[in-house]
Amino acid sequence: SETLTVNGLAEKLHKDVSEIIKKLMFLGIMATKNQDLDDDAVELICSDYNVTVEKEIILEDTDFDKYRKEDDEQDLIERPAVVTIMGHVDHGKTTLLDSIRHTKVTAGEAGGITQHIGAYQAENDGKKVTFLDTPGHEAFTSMRSRGAQITDIAILVVAADDGVMPQTVEAINHAKAAEVPIIVAVNKMDKETANPDRVMQELTEYQLIPEDWGGSTIFVPISAIKGEGIDELLEMILLVAEMEELKANPNKAAFGTVIDAQLDRGRGAVASLLVQDGTLSVGDSIVVGNTFGRVRAMVNDLGQRIDKAEPSTPVEITGLNAVPQAGDQFLVFTDERKARQIGETRQQQHIVESRGSQAKISLDDLFEQI
Ligand code: GTP
Ligand code: MG
Repeated sequence: SETLTVNGLAEKLHKDVSEIIKKLMFLGIMATKNQDLDDDAVELICSDYNVTVEKEIILEDTDFDKYRKEDDEQDLIERPAVVTIMGHVDHGKTTLLDSIRHTKVTAGEAGGITQHIGAYQAENDGKKVTFLDTPGHEAFTSMRSRGAQITDIAILVVAADDGVMPQTVEAINHAKAAEVPIIVAVNKMDKETANPDRVMQELTEYQLIPEDWGGSTIFVPISAIKGEGIDELLEMILLVAEMEELKANPNKAAFGTVIDAQLDRGRGAVASLLVQDGTLSVGDSIVVGNTFGRVRAMVNDLGQRIDKAEPSTPVEITGLNAVPQAGDQFLVFTDERKARQIGETRQQQHIVESRGSQAKISLDDLFEQI
């Protein structure tokens, strides 16, 4: 922030510099005319002249990129893949998510899933995978339109009895635009009318070609409703994740994205966050979109209280001064004052912007950003 010298203050007050020095001396501050004064001293002198000091808003650079540190290669460790499930209406996305959750989410939490945090972790052979619970298209459109990319792998669910449909194509386009690998889950294999060959044939048109046909796309036949093929699908996810070499540095201030947020009567602003890098801890000073605060409490996808969350972990936190929006990014600051300054500046900028341009945002603008 900007500082003021004794000389500078004298000029601002239209007083003789020697007069200011005398007053300072009276206050017990021995100062020369080129000396910087702290805020308190400035305020004391001013109040002596019946001048009120309006604190200038410190214009912080609020771009998170400025505050995120580069990593040394040696600090990076493997992190779980973040997976989104996409596909046409009724092709079985929700059933698949449920099936994975029931067969693969750590046992012993019966009745423990009290929270709905928009994401959860499954485990296979001791390796974790994070699934986003939001319908894939939404996750992609709203998140990507706001500059956030959180998905590492897209699962494209195609019903074997229905084949490629308009939203299947939409999903492919989203995944391709985001440059994330696609695994095809050919669902409803239990149905008599299931025709997986047709699905594979139709998808060749979109450059999704199975390995058997000389391509490189992984196809997994499943029955979400019967829980068949789920293990194989998870194995394939882990295989792709390994090829992607997904890494993060757990030894730094956390960074990530809001999955979901709402106002809770008792707890105030509640935000579901996906930690994408670093480790998030209870007590951290955090800026989340245009909101800020300190992480008061944190729970995991099983509703258990935790005090630390590593990369690719979905958590729910309280302690923010307002409700952020899905797709907002967050960053932890080791300096609490810095977090507050940046949070306040962002909040003010947001108020100004939303006043000025509310009417200007059209659907077309939104699509342009996607
Ligand atoms: P939207 O959220 O509406 O886009 O649908 P969705 O893709 O989530 O599909 P959902 O999981 O709701 O499944 C749609 C219907 O298909 C339901 O009646 C499911 O029971 C049924 N279904 C899902 N998976 C299977 C399956 O493997 N086999 C059979 N036979 N039916 C399935
Ligand atoms: Mg659904």
